[in-house]
Amino acid sequence: MRNASDQFDSLLHEHRTFPPPAGFSAAAHVASDDVYEEADGDWQAWWEGWARELDWFEPWHTVHEWDAPHARWFVGGKLNVSHNCLDRHLDGPRRDRTALIWEGEDGERRTFTYAELHAEVCRFANGLKALGVGKGDRVAIYLPMIPEAAVAMLACTRIGAPHSVVFGGFSPESLADRIDDAEARLLITADGGYRRGSVVPLKKNADAAVARTDSIEHVVVVARGGIEEASGATMVEGRDVWYHDLVADASTDCPAEPMDAEDVLFILYTSGTTGKPKGVVHTTGGYLTHVYATSKLVFDLKDDDVYWCTADVGWITGHSYIVYGPMANGVTQVMYEGAPDHPDRGRFWRICEEYGVTVFYTAPTAIRAFMRWGEAWPAKSDLSSLRLLGTVGEPINPEAWMWYHEVIGAERCPIVDTWWQTETGGIMITPLPGVTTTTPGTAVRPFPGVAATILNEAGEEVDAGFLAVTRPWPGMLRTIWGDDERFRQTYWSKWDGIYFPGDGAKRENGNLWILGRVDDVLNVAGHRIGTAEVESALVDDQRVAESAVVGRKDDIKGEVVCAFVTTKEGVESGDELAAELKQHVVDKIGAIARPAAVIFTADLPKTRSGKIMRRLLKDIAEGRAIGDTTTLADPAVVQALEEKYAGSEG
Ligand code: PRX
Repeated sequence: MRNASDQFDSLLHEHRTFPPPAGFSAAAHVASDDVYEEADGDWQAWWEGWARELDWFEPWHTVHEWDAPHARWFVGGKLNVSHNCLDRHLDGPRRDRTALIWEGEDGERRTFTYAELHAEVCRFANGLKALGVGKGDRVAIYLPMIPEAAVAMLACTRIGAPHSVVFGGFSPESLADRIDDAEARLLITADGGYRRGSVVPLKKNADAAVARTDSIEHVVVVARGGIEEASGATMVEGRDVWYHDLVADASTDCPAEPMDAEDVLFILYTSGTTGKPKGVVHTTGGYLTHVYATSKLVFDLKDDDVYWCTADVGWITGHSYIVYGPMANGVTQVMYEGAPDHPDRGRFWRICEEYGVTVFYTAPTAIRAFMRWGEAWPAKSDLSSLRLLGTVGEPINPEAWMWYHEVIGAERCPIVDTWWQTETGGIMITPLPGVTTTTPGTAVRPFPGVAATILNEAGEEVDAGFLAVTRPWPGMLRTIWGDDERFRQTYWSKWDGIYFPGDGAKRENGNLWILGRVDDVLNVAGHRIGTAEVESALVDDQRVAESAVVGRKDDIKGEVVCAFVTTKEGVESGDELAAELKQHVVDKIGAIARPAAVIFTADLPKTRSGKIMRRLLKDIAEGRAIGDTTTLADPAVVQALEEKYAGSEG
């Protein structure tokens, strides 16, 4: 818990301002805030200008069509994403520039120039075709952070097969649900991957998932190298193919499929307020334009940069700011397989020094962990190559921002705090590093061409309330896969024609502060977890009668999962059951959803109409005085719970 002096520091930081260093602005892509006026003056023309920087096989006839909530961008245009990320760079000096420097957790290194990456992607795209995958077929990808993850995504886009990447930490059941929902025909996985020195048995998990689904015809398996035995992977005759066998004789020539600007590029599942994750659908032309432009301006990418985003390709940050945005910009980037504290807590900083990383993009939860580990770790490495720092995924507390600024950035590097979501496709609210005066903790203002504000329930502008995006943007999600009604309900039903992201926000000194989710979605270490998903995993255990899940503040993870559980009659509750239930959630969803605490209770606090009062549970979980209980059906329940929680170890 924070003490009074920390809170005082925080107040001080919240009012400090940091203009961009003069040297930085002088060389930046954007050095004047005229860009905002220019973009707002004709926002369609602004985005169109960015689209023109990409390669199109056929031009669009209309920049933007809006039949709320359905948008179309660059209507009639044809292009290919893989072509724009690879082929486009092959005629000039970028051809032999390093595209990817990969470092495995075990120290293995592989690098690819743009020409080499292009050849590898073509080979694999031909391999996919040989397995019968064609335009429009969905491909599920369940891989560790190895180069083949990017290769697989680019190969899918090359042949027009929408991919659905599933984070390697998800359970077989979560993978199966996502395969089923998208009716994927093919699954790409690996025998295993490294995490903190142990082998994650991906192929075993994939087999368990495929056994629960009907749509998968083939499984392509990448040999991660050196772990075949430890992973316990076995191949199913006729169904499974090793990646290296598939690409061995494949041609390095694979023409990129001309795709309509509005063809589906990928589906990415994310948690919502029900037990079922949403398949967020992104399309081709608008998405690429958005991530290309934002990568270039927000990260100020130049030809001599070495960029490193520490996300996993299983999340939207990995899609937009490892694969598509940076590669469309032809940048050199670092990709790292493993944990930041393996074999010790200096790993990230050694990587920065070794490869001369210039732009570094990570999550606040990681920064808080670095802070706790202490300054001695980064001090062991020379971080003088860094010139720009970024954060994403959750609000950054001003203390962590200051630490990042002072200890990692040596007070020399601007920090871009970027707000966006799986649904927005790309960055929406952010400083521009050569222009914006920042204050620790605020994402400051919308990216040029994006219009966002704060509204109340009635749709009136207020200084504190709900964040709202008031104008369509090219990277916006187009729908939810197979459920357009949910798309309308979730994002477009609060106000007419205005996007509701589900975040709270406030405006202070002209800056936009994002305050976190206002729905039943938790943000645990920068990952979205729906309380309903965890609740349904818990009641899936035969011994559980009812459960309610809330978030509890955490110094490192931002929030952790706290589960209140009532058991069925005759079930003995205690530490053993708590441990089993935590593991059950891991088995059902994945380790990211593991409850930090399971609290047993005879009853859950409910209103007279039977609604669980989560607000009270959150107060109890965070040790706050209980607020108004007058609407409770049985006030004694809360008192019993408070006593129980105070006495529990979590
Ligand atoms: O609550 C906001 C938070 O993360 C949510 C989006 O999560 P996801 O779709 O998983 O994407 C994460 C990576 C883009 C948002 O609704 N969030 C993301 N970035 C920030 C943030 N909250 C505050 N400040 C940010 N910079």
